[in-house]
Amino acid sequence: MESSGTRQGYGEGARTPRKHRARDTLSLLSAEFDGVHDVWRSAMGTVCVADPESARAVLGNRDAVVAEASDFYKTRHGDFGPRAAQIRIGRAARALIRRHLDARRAELPGLVAELLAPSAVWPDAGNLLVLRHMRDVLLHRDAPPQLHASVGQIVHRAVLAGARHRHSPPSRLLFRRRALNFLHTEIRDRQRQFHPARDARDLLDVVVDESEPGADPKDLAEVYLSFLFATVGSVGFALGWSVHLLGTHPDCQAAEPSWTVREALRLWPVAWLFARTPSHAQTLGGTEVTPRDLLAVCTYLVHRHPGYWERPDEFVPERWAGAVPDAAYLPFGYGPHTCAGATVTMRLLEDLVELITRDRQLAVTPDGTGPQVGPALAPPRFTAVLSARTDCPGGR
Ligand code: HEM
Repeated sequence: MESSGTRQGYGEGARTPRKHRARDTLSLLSAEFDGVHDVWRSAMGTVCVADPESARAVLGNRDAVVAEASDFYKTRHGDFGPRAAQIRIGRAARALIRRHLDARRAELPGLVAELLAPSAVWPDAGNLLVLRHMRDVLLHRDAPPQLHASVGQIVHRAVLAGARHRHSPPSRLLFRRRALNFLHTEIRDRQRQFHPARDARDLLDVVVDESEPGADPKDLAEVYLSFLFATVGSVGFALGWSVHLLGTHPDCQAAEPSWTVREALRLWPVAWLFARTPSHAQTLGGTEVTPRDLLAVCTYLVHRHPGYWERPDEFVPERWAGAVPDAAYLPFGYGPHTCAGATVTMRLLEDLVELITRDRQLAVTPDGTGPQVGPALAPPRFTAVLSARTDCPGGR
């Protein structure tokens, strides 16, 4: 398993030149984008796509403009498949999470009070809250204690923002071997015990039960880790961005939670960069590309495209009360590989933002640094203090 720096995102893969990774990439692409030329050859060597129409053509891939790819199902051994298994896994995972959220919704206020109030250090606080809430869906209660411990450690060593810098490389390597061993052993056991009538108890069952017979446990472990990164990592970061933006824009704290979450994902799409390869020579948004090129679809720039968004760089939750340019909004991707967890994610985020802001005043102290940019876009570290509201909320 890799740290948030290499696995969590949905795109900035190994082919982006190392010297231009992450924060550099974000700054460089932002500096290069003039708001007019929105598909261009970047100094990074990739062809950057910030034009919404081209971004949808590439991600949706209806005309086979790029080689088929889903970043979620990418493993070290190639793309996990077949596509039918990807679809089954996505659907079963969504159904399981939806049932879990329905059954456990009532526990959220207690978790917010326990883990976020009176103050907490973010973005870790958001990730750890999501971990607590989703724990049983990630791994059922009767799974081996060693594996439970291992999943908790994976979160601390690989999922939290900047986790890879918190541990030395040898310790990371050692941990990785041990954690993957536990996971592979458990997957083999579950493959042996499989029978078609069993109900999935957790996401590991989903991955094992919905894959093809005889699937490689190593690949299944990687798909399972994608779920761990998506739930605890991406959902936690998206929550962190909402809290950060509300804390730094106190006037917006009475906004509809759904507007806040949408606007946070517009300004800071956690999945912000997607790598794809053209399948043949063609013109994309006025730029000639060939299969030797690497396309970098940048939803961060699509979401701030001045041709589509008014006040593109400002946090304006109210914009979601009216008509928005949906075509230029792709926080969960687009087309056949659109996020299978989008609806459950939005629901959980809206519930949490509602709980955090209802009856409470939120104050945020940023630590002065910028966003933590890896393949996933995480907020800067900040402290958020929740106190009883002194005004009469009335806003909602
Ligand atoms: C804020 C949270 C999340 C964000 C921003 C996000 C974003 C994305 C994006 C952009 C893709 C498309 C990747 C591509 O085109 O290569 C994707 C795919 C996927 N996501 Fe999420 N995701 C989130 C949470 C979740 C959760 C909680 C689940 C759990 C069910 C999930 C399951 C999936 C699956 C299974 C796919 C692959 C879909 C396919 O290829 O058929 N995601 N996600």
